[in-house]
Amino acid sequence: MAEFLLEPKADTPFTRALTVAVTGGTGFIGRAVIRRLLQERVHVRALVRKPSPSTCFEAPGLSWIRGELNCEESLRRLVDGASAVIHCAGSVRGACEADFIPANVSGVEKIVKVAGESVDCSRFLHLSSLAARSPELSDYASSKRRGEEVLRSAARDLSWTILRPPAVYGPGDREMLPLLQWIRRGMIFVPGGGAARFSLIFIADLTDAVLTWLTSGAGGGGCFELHDGKTGGYCWEDVREIASDLYRRPIRRIDIPRRALEAAAHLNSAAARVAGYRPMLTPGKVRELCHADWVCDNASFSCVTQWRPKYELREGLLRTLG
Ligand SMILES: NC(=O)c1ccc[n+]([C@@H]2O[C@H](COP(=O)([O-])OP(=O)(O)OC[C@H]3O[C@@H](n4cnc5c(N)ncnc54)[C@H](OP(=O)(O)O)[C@@H]3O)[C@@H](O)[C@H]2O)c1
Repeated sequence: MAEFLLEPKADTPFTRALTVAVTGGTGFIGRAVIRRLLQERVHVRALVRKPSPSTCFEAPGLSWIRGELNCEESLRRLVDGASAVIHCAGSVRGACEADFIPANVSGVEKIVKVAGESVDCSRFLHLSSLAARSPELSDYASSKRRGEEVLRSAARDLSWTILRPPAVYGPGDREMLPLLQWIRRGMIFVPGGGAARFSLIFIADLTDAVLTWLTSGAGGGGCFELHDGKTGGYCWEDVREIASDLYRRPIRRIDIPRRALEAAAHLNSAAARVAGYRPMLTPGKVRELCHADWVCDNASFSCVTQWRPKYELREGLLRTLG
């Protein structure tokens, strides 16, 4: 699987005038955001909980700051000298509310407070999720909504922007990768009857959106949905057809009944409690997976920033799996 966007653009002036603090830089999205910023010669300060050679890559213009969302002292060191914060850290796995609140709610409150108190920092980008639109579905979704509310009420003089991406995929992702690899092998697993419609976004389009937010200076006080340019989103049959055409082979559709998913989710949650890991497949995740409408709209963000997505699913799949 190819990494991408590694080399700084040769014709970009090497200016360190702009310094940005990034959280979640050891995760899928934060890591891609950092690489995109470095490519544009933006100086990056990135938060890391457990530094290691495998998580903290080295690059000119990049400093790793050891810390935690719930440790204000480390957040002050992170934000020191940065004119903007790009907040990508969050919990995406968990069995109960308590697994999501520290990162997705209290963590947002802490970093917004620290950014608001900083004399250097004037802008804050919060990576929320389309799930925040339907907080009733799961503990994850409600924590993402509460994180947005905390930002709005704690931001004081900060110019804040919320991005709500739908499912994000691309090189470096671990959550959707197995599903995509099965599609490449000729099988598509369709949850809960397959009536859902959903938007998607390829990681490079998302990182471009973040960069556009940074450089355009636009979007203050806005909450924006983002997608890959496919108005009206996809249904599972669209995905099957696109993959079948791309890989020039039949893709077999395998429907997973909602009840089977729910049973697996209950078992997984029980196993997680015993073994002490944070599960991805939970009853709440099943409600998210079977939700009929995850279609979103790009228009507002494109209007205020001029950002345009470049990679619909066919191109994104090609760049993710080859
Ligand atoms: N992936 C998607 O499809 C998608 C879609 C919509 C929205 N989002 C949102 O995008 C954000 C990033 O998602 P992702 O897919 O990149 O997740 P990820 O790969 O699991 O990365 C999560 C990042 O957050 C960090 N983090 C978690 N809790 C933290 C804490 N208490 N203090 C400091 N850092 C902490 C993790 O650090 P460690 O490495 O130390 O664990 C990691 O760097 C999340 O807020 C998620 O809700 C994701």
